[in-house]
Amino acid sequence: MKKSFLFGTVGLMFVLLLQNCKPEKNVAPPPTDPDSLYIGTTYTIAKPYRFPTITNPYKDSLTVEGIELGRRLFYDKHLSSTGLLACASCHRQEFAFSDAGNAKSTNVFGTTKRNAPAIENLLWAGSVVGGEWTGSLFWDGRANSLGAQAKDAFHGEQNMDIPNLIAYLKTDSTYTRLFRKAFGRPGDVTEEKIYLAVQQFMMTLISSDSHFDKVMRGQEQFTASELNGLNLFTAADRGDCTHCHVPQNGTILFTDNFYKNNGIDSVGSIDDYIDKGRGAITADPNDNGKFRDPSLRNIALTGPYMHDGRYQTLDQVINYYSDSVRTSGTVDAQMFVVVGHPDGKRQFTQQEHDDLMNFLNSLTDTVFTHNPNFSNPF
Ligand code: HEC
Ligand code: HEC
Repeated sequence: MKKSFLFGTVGLMFVLLLQNCKPEKNVAPPPTDPDSLYIGTTYTIAKPYRFPTITNPYKDSLTVEGIELGRRLFYDKHLSSTGLLACASCHRQEFAFSDAGNAKSTNVFGTTKRNAPAIENLLWAGSVVGGEWTGSLFWDGRANSLGAQAKDAFHGEQNMDIPNLIAYLKTDSTYTRLFRKAFGRPGDVTEEKIYLAVQQFMMTLISSDSHFDKVMRGQEQFTASELNGLNLFTAADRGDCTHCHVPQNGTILFTDNFYKNNGIDSVGSIDDYIDKGRGAITADPNDNGKFRDPSLRNIALTGPYMHDGRYQTLDQVINYYSDSVRTSGTVDAQMFVVVGHPDGKRQFTQQEHDDLMNFLNSLTDTVFTHNPNFSNPF
């Protein structure tokens, strides 16, 4: 018994061994270039709870390698004429990718015209217009995709010299490998692919794990003050903030991506706004002084506030909506529909002010600001 069992086992192992030694048919010889067959690993974005459906067509072209490449380019200071400035110099993760408390930023030419906004949930910054998806990036919406936006920033802030840059990228084996993997053969390094890769990385910058989100998902609870702040935020006769920084169709991006004038400037004529904002893009004077409603997610981290960074603190912003709303030619009518406050000044009590602050603070997402997938890869 014992003997035949032993022989049986040895025999079986022998057969298995023989099978493994059989020359394999129909298998291509091993590629000399290990990346030659690579066309990228599909990356799918999951829609967070109560976020809008993703209609951005670029979602279908995301690859793990494209995102990795984009992240590297985003953090690489070589991509500027001075060699000192990367996208991440002005868009810092710990500040939800805004600029570390600076009202204006320093680019290779001097000072930026506007305040650097957060980069978060921007794959939703756009909508289908006339059957075609159109993005609305920057305060004035001048870029219609994140790729176009990246191109604008590489030239406008970093003064990137394309031939030099491509030469640099081609000498770096990590970059050439990633370009090949992200975009398949022949894997040439091109200007267009630089923008597409950065776009891919920025599409993954999704913030949906604040205390507010956890309350929405039933995982945490609001304090009494936060809940009161939320009610003030939405109430038609108190803050009425939702008219613009909305739960869009019941979703929770905290922006409707429209261009509006919220009354921060007082000017005699609609031609007098110092920064014409949207009007400079559409050449329609009725758009002068209008800017895209900013998202209020991570708002506690992204000061100073407004397109020109005029308010240092969130306290000052609440005081503005409470006491200083101004009237001028293109101010949005929705600033003045607060029931009982036709001049738009909400006149918050100190308690309401504090509750509103606590609610806005509940939008801070430290999972986002600490996510290792978004950090500096160098
Ligand atoms: C010198 C600082 C600086 C650098 C460097 C910089 N940015 Fe910006 N960024 C800004 C400022 C200022 C704005 C606002 C400009 C405007 O709206 O007119 C902005 C706006 C943006 C926006 C628009 C956000 C929104 O809500 O619409 C995105 C996205 C962005 N930058 C990404 C990038 C990328 C990608 C790079 C690198 C290629 C980059 N930035 C480099 C300062 C900078
Ligand atoms: C009529 C539309 C509208 C209403 C109502 C409104 N806002 Fe705004 N809000 C805007 C616009 C537009 C901006 C950007 C203006 C600019 O930069 O010139 C803005 C900017 C802000 C900012 C600064 C954001 C940043 O990133 O710099 C905060 C904070 C803010 N609003 C909070 C509130 C609160 C709180 C309420 C309710 C009390 C409110 N808003 C009501 C349209 C509105």
